[in-house]
Parts: sequence; structure tokens; C-alpha cells
Amino acid sequence: MTKLRKAVFPVAGLGTRFLPATKAIPKEMLTVVDKPVIQYVVDEAREAGIEHFIFVTGRNKAVIEDHFDIQVELYDTLERRGKNAVLERLHGMQPQPGQTSFTRQQEPLGLGHAVWCARELVGNEPFALLLPDMIMQSPKGCLSQMVEVFDKTGGNVVSVEECEPSQTHKYGIVGRGADVAGGFEINAMVEKPKPEDAPSNFYINGRYILQPSIFDLLAQQERGAGGEIQLTDSMLTLMEQQPFHGYHFTGRTFDCGSPEGFVEANLAFALERPDLREHVLRAVEASGRN
Ligand code: UTP
Repeated sequence: MTKLRKAVFPVAGLGTRFLPATKAIPKEMLTVVDKPVIQYVVDEAREAGIEHFIFVTGRNKAVIEDHFDIQVELYDTLERRGKNAVLERLHGMQPQPGQTSFTRQQEPLGLGHAVWCARELVGNEPFALLLPDMIMQSPKGCLSQMVEVFDKTGGNVVSVEECEPSQTHKYGIVGRGADVAGGFEINAMVEKPKPEDAPSNFYINGRYILQPSIFDLLAQQERGAGGEIQLTDSMLTLMEQQPFHGYHFTGRTFDCGSPEGFVEANLAFALERPDLREHVLRAVEASGRN
């Protein structure tokens, strides 16, 4: 079976749910504690064995490319000042030369269109797709967990988590069939269904392993809701042609594209840090009293 080597990060969205913060700063560069959101997602991909990081960017997103570049002057200054711990941390996050590629989605025509823009860089092999505004907290990364299933099932795998049954209208929802190799068969997939029409409360939490045939389907697809090319429509066709499994992720997902998810993520990741935990707990208690 072909090893999963490449990951696509669509970062061309406008981030309208997070205005005014995202007027000049990409939402992927907002920080959860002290790391930009995009760094969490790239770290998760690297942990899962990804060797090539493909970013689909848009206007105002050049700072993402800068973030993954070496800052020679800064590194020299840190070295001169003996700030070795932070320097080591920066080096640890740095992709190796040639491991990153950037392509532009010239118009924000939807997630499906952004993925299609990566077709030449991905080529004819399976790839991971990570939505950078969703970040996860778990001892083992979400993509690493998925790869364990993918290594047994091949085909396509999406990660899911449970949402409140009343909230299905916010997500892509899948129906859960028989258990297979640590995952399960998907027997339905619906984009943002009303609770009464939803096949379950399992929502796709922003992580996918897809076969390259998705690109041909995306190329043929008509624009759907809101004039956008939806990924779900092509995945539905792919489901009829190839194995397609779900994986119930063990951990917590935060939607950092929304202010409430972003605040929750900051709290959860700060509480995980031994150097911040007590301070944050005291601050939350004090704010709760006011
Ligand atoms: P979202 O719908 O969450 O992102 O898309 P958005 O459009 O930036 O956010 P809002 O709703 O206006 O606040 C999911 C992912 O797909 C990317 C986004 O960057 C995000 O990572 N995306 C979306 C693109 O790359 N291109 C698009 O045309 C649309």
C-alpha cells in the first residue's frame, strides 16, 4: 500500500466568523497560548509521518509562508543572547528545506476548490487533508490515530467526533455502519443537516485521508450552495467507488475559526502546560467571582 507522505492545508478562506481579527491577519496565524494555530496542525501532520506540507493560500496569507521560513537574524540574535531553549523549540518546528509547497487559490470558491488547487502538488498518491482551524488535544495526534486505520483499510478515511444532536446543522455528518479494523463503514454523509434529518451526531472534525481520484471528481463538480465547490459532494461520489471509512477520534477538537472554540482551545492548552496551569486556574476563578 502507498505510504501517506503528503498533507494539504487549505488556508485560503476569508475567516469572516472571526472579524475584525482576521481583517489583516490570517486566522491560521492567531495564537493558541504561544503557537499559531497552523503550527499545531503542521506538528500533528509531522507526528503522523508526513514529509511534504502543501499549503493552499490566498491573498493576505504570505505571513504563513514566512512563519515556516528560517529567520536568520532572529536565530543569530537568540544564539548571541544564549536563549537556547526557545531556539531549540523554533528549530524543532521548522520544516526541512524542500518539505513545503505553496500554491494560491485565486478566488475563495470553497473548500472543494481549494483542495483541487493542490492536485499537481499531490500527484497520484493518497494524501492527508487537515483543516487548520480545527485543532485537537489528545496524547496521540488525530492523524496518527487515523493512519493506524488507513494502514489496514486503505481507501479513504475521515475522522469524526460526536456533537450535541441539536448542532448537526453546523457540520458534515456521517452515518455509522459496521465496525472495521478500528474504524467503521460510512453509510451516509450529509452536509449541515437539520437535527431531524441527520443520520447521526458524528461530525467530520477536519481530518481526511483521501485518494487522488477525488481531484477528477472535484474538476467535474458544479458549484453548489453559495456558489462554492463543496468537498462533501465529491466525497459522496467517491464513496460509491472506493472503500470509505470513518474513525472515531479519541480526544477533543476545537474549532478555532469561531471565537468560542478559540477561547476554549486557549484555556485547554494553557491548562495542559505545567508552567501556566496554576496561574490560569486562579485567573478563571477570580474572573468567575466578578
Ligand atoms: P471555513 O468555512 O471554516 O473557512 O472553511 P472560512 O471561509 O475561512 O471561514 P468563515 O466561515 O468565513 O469564518 C474550512 C477551511 O477551508 C478553507 C478555510 O481556510 C478553512 O481552513 N477554505 C475555505 C479555503 O481554503 N478556501 C475557500 O474558498 C474556503
